[in-house]
Amino acid sequence: MAAGDSFSVTTPIFYVNDAPHIGHAYTEVAADVLARWHRQSGVDTWSLTGTDEHGQKILRTAVANGVTPKEWADKLVADAWVPLLQTIDIANDDFIRTTEERHESVVQQFLQKLYDDGLIYDGEYEGYYCVGCEEYKQPSDLVDGSGEFEGQYVCPIHGRPVEVLKEKNYFFRMSRFQQRLLDLYESQPDFIQPDSLRNEIVSFVRRGLDDLSISRQSFDWGVRVPWDDKHVVYVWFDALINYISALGWNPEQPGELFDRFWPSNHIVGKDIARFHAVIWPAMLMAADLPVPRRVFGHGWLLVGGEKMSKSKLTGIAPSQITDVFGSDAFRYYFLRAIAFGQDGSFSWEDLAARYQAELANGFGNLASRVVAMVGRYCDGVVPEAGPLGEAEAGIQRTVADAVVAATAAIDRFAIHDSIAAVWSIVDELNGYLTVQEPWKVAKDESQTERLRTILYTAAEGLRALAVLLSPVLPQATQKLWTALGAEPHLGALVDQRIPDAGEWEQLPAGARTQALEALFPRIEHEATA
Ligand code: MSP
Repeated sequence: MAAGDSFSVTTPIFYVNDAPHIGHAYTEVAADVLARWHRQSGVDTWSLTGTDEHGQKILRTAVANGVTPKEWADKLVADAWVPLLQTIDIANDDFIRTTEERHESVVQQFLQKLYDDGLIYDGEYEGYYCVGCEEYKQPSDLVDGSGEFEGQYVCPIHGRPVEVLKEKNYFFRMSRFQQRLLDLYESQPDFIQPDSLRNEIVSFVRRGLDDLSISRQSFDWGVRVPWDDKHVVYVWFDALINYISALGWNPEQPGELFDRFWPSNHIVGKDIARFHAVIWPAMLMAADLPVPRRVFGHGWLLVGGEKMSKSKLTGIAPSQITDVFGSDAFRYYFLRAIAFGQDGSFSWEDLAARYQAELANGFGNLASRVVAMVGRYCDGVVPEAGPLGEAEAGIQRTVADAVVAATAAIDRFAIHDSIAAVWSIVDELNGYLTVQEPWKVAKDESQTERLRTILYTAAEGLRALAVLLSPVLPQATQKLWTALGAEPHLGALVDQRIPDAGEWEQLPAGARTQALEALFPRIEHEATA
């Protein structure tokens, strides 16, 4: 199958110098929702995440902890990075580590190909390097230090002095690709999204591109340069290749997965968009490979107005949130409250307020009430609807419109808009029940048919909601699916197709409902204080 018929999405591979915080989890959850949505739309889908384990930053952390870098990486991966996926319910297809043989050998083959083609040469690098960023810096990227760093250049991201490097390095002829990159941005306007980031990258490349130093000699924690084993490959050059090494690419034989899923969509924080939208496509052009489908740079989670980070001691572990609110609420909150592509401030108060208003009172309560009424008034059997009125037609229209709007939003990676579109069904159904008052209709025996129509409409609306919200709220929607008695008739929730979710009367009359525990239980206030 050609990549045009498939959807492939990646997260950055994360440095293992420390345990994950909610900023990392945010990227993971966004990519996961896109993957689940496409899978449930019947598209051949692949999602990849993993860890970036080479470079000076990891080496120094390991040394400071008295272990080898590989021991350090193994421990962090096993104790923190793999468990994160479960904490926030990620359904990834693969997890790649840059210390795996399958990756290291591809890095060497990629590099050798560029070397053989005359795109790598040796030279002398003299300049600044930030180990926190693992990036070469221009003086214009830096600020003057003060206090203990007086007289030194400081990286504004890490607040620490950069190091002065003077080394014999190998260089990649990146400057040759300036015009081809500008042509790419022009001919494929959604290659970098959002537009603000695109504009920033285009002006950066217009100012001119230097060749890139791609090896280091002063330490040895990395992939060896194949023709000169005194050098290890620059950690970013190594790391970016994960996106194709995980697909089994090699120069002799691209491989089945590569053919099927490349080019991928890269979800990254805006801080690392330049690596993905400039260096990576230039590397791929050099190797005669197709460039990524899209690079989407999301915003930062801010705490107290600053980018949240462990090094600035503002890092919050994802489990601090999921232990209290659950993984569904984590996924929902960050993707709903923050416009994807923009920065967003995190606060416990906002999280608790949205949990209560939107998840518990809005969706959870709707589901509980409808299932309870089918239990009470229809002996736990989904009733047959009588003639449909204008109100029922309105609900059907809302569901059909939500499917179209949510799908269009996902196509632009506007995940927040997609959730908002689906949420219109929650609001409409709540309004429908308020107006129709089935609890009153139930008291009038002459209106049994009307009661059935109302409850069928509400239950069928919930069926559509379970399908459409399942990429974001996989656990709650599974409980709802079971409670509606849908599975024996319609099959597993994950097999329901999103494009068909708006088709009415899928939940058959006669389906047996089951009691539904609160989908989003009340949280005691102390827990969030
Ligand atoms: N290892 C590189 C990426 C290599 S990809 C070929 C790296 N790793 S990282 O561990 O520093 O993770 C960076 C990513 O974590 C960011 O791009 C972003 O996706 C996420 N975030 C880290 N802090 C964040 C916030 N405060 N807010 C949102 N996302 C953040 O860079």
